[in-house]
Amino acid sequence: MEYFRGLVAALFAACAVFAATIVSASAQGQLNVYCAVQVEWCQAIATNFQRETGITVNMTQKGSGETLAQIRAEAQNPRGDIWFGGTGDPHLILAEAGLSVEYKPAAIGELHPWAVKQYESAKGRSVGIYSGAIGFGFNTELLAKKNIPAPACWADLLKPAYKGEIQVANPNSSGTAYTVIATLIQLMGEDKAFDFLKQMHQNVNAYPRSGTGPIKAAARGETAVAVSFVHDVVTEKNAGFPVDYNTPCEGTGFEIGSMSIIKGARNLKQAQRFYDWALTPAAQKLGFDVGKQLQMPSNKASPLPPGAPDLTKIKLIDYDFVKYGSSTERQRLLAKWDSDIGALPR
Ligand code: F6P
Repeated sequence: MEYFRGLVAALFAACAVFAATIVSASAQGQLNVYCAVQVEWCQAIATNFQRETGITVNMTQKGSGETLAQIRAEAQNPRGDIWFGGTGDPHLILAEAGLSVEYKPAAIGELHPWAVKQYESAKGRSVGIYSGAIGFGFNTELLAKKNIPAPACWADLLKPAYKGEIQVANPNSSGTAYTVIATLIQLMGEDKAFDFLKQMHQNVNAYPRSGTGPIKAAARGETAVAVSFVHDVVTEKNAGFPVDYNTPCEGTGFEIGSMSIIKGARNLKQAQRFYDWALTPAAQKLGFDVGKQLQMPSNKASPLPPGAPDLTKIKLIDYDFVKYGSSTERQRLLAKWDSDIGALPR
């Protein structure tokens, strides 16, 4: 009987703890995160933020252009609270359209100038969380087998030796690919840039949906060359694939990977808490620790992940984020890409 009473008491105690956990989790509320970095990193931020705060995180992963389209489509009835990651231009477009809200993060004084620039350009409606440069990833074994040199300059990508050997993502869905177009225009002017893209089209075998698609394909020997962010090349290299990268001799563009709180967020307090959390050095380590992601983090106290491309050693252009992050310019360039490049036969 004594044993039975003990058992019942233990059961009651367990139920009480369980109920308290549920109550405290629901008391902390929930957060709907739209995430545009690689899925391992998205999962890591969801798990860690949930564990540290008790806030239940629901996470959806998509490309930069796709996330922008989704938030626009849901504008009358927002389902997301916060958008984490992806190139900065669609975040600026969201701010311009009044679809994100102003928030001054606690760590604003601890961030690199490029991250603060994104905050200022968006009039406080977005902030930089990481940065990375565009370059050429290539499969070293495939190039050696085909006796093709590794591309070192943009001009190399037009050479007949690369016929059918290059992949770059579709700029409608991918912020990486849009950054490539904006970079070429800033380097050579719009007419020459579109001539370049037309000529390069002869050498392109596919325009995948996601910005990391081309380098994943190169890593697996499905294409020799990928135009992509160079940090994504190092991720594949660290995973054991025979890939390496060069940054273009003429100079190259870069991203300010960003974060924004969505207008009409149902979980605004939780979104603000996440915003502050995501800018701490501890949270900024997660991309590398869990997903081996190698972007340069925006908090000055966050170390550059081991083996990450050092942006200070890359010939970067003075990228005009405001111009290429304007909605009219982006729509115009994407429509032009669709008609002049995407529609071309291959
Ligand atoms: O997560 C890797 C990454 O290259 C980020 O640095 C970048 O912001 C994002 O992917 C862009 O993805 P997409 O080109 O698919 O929009």
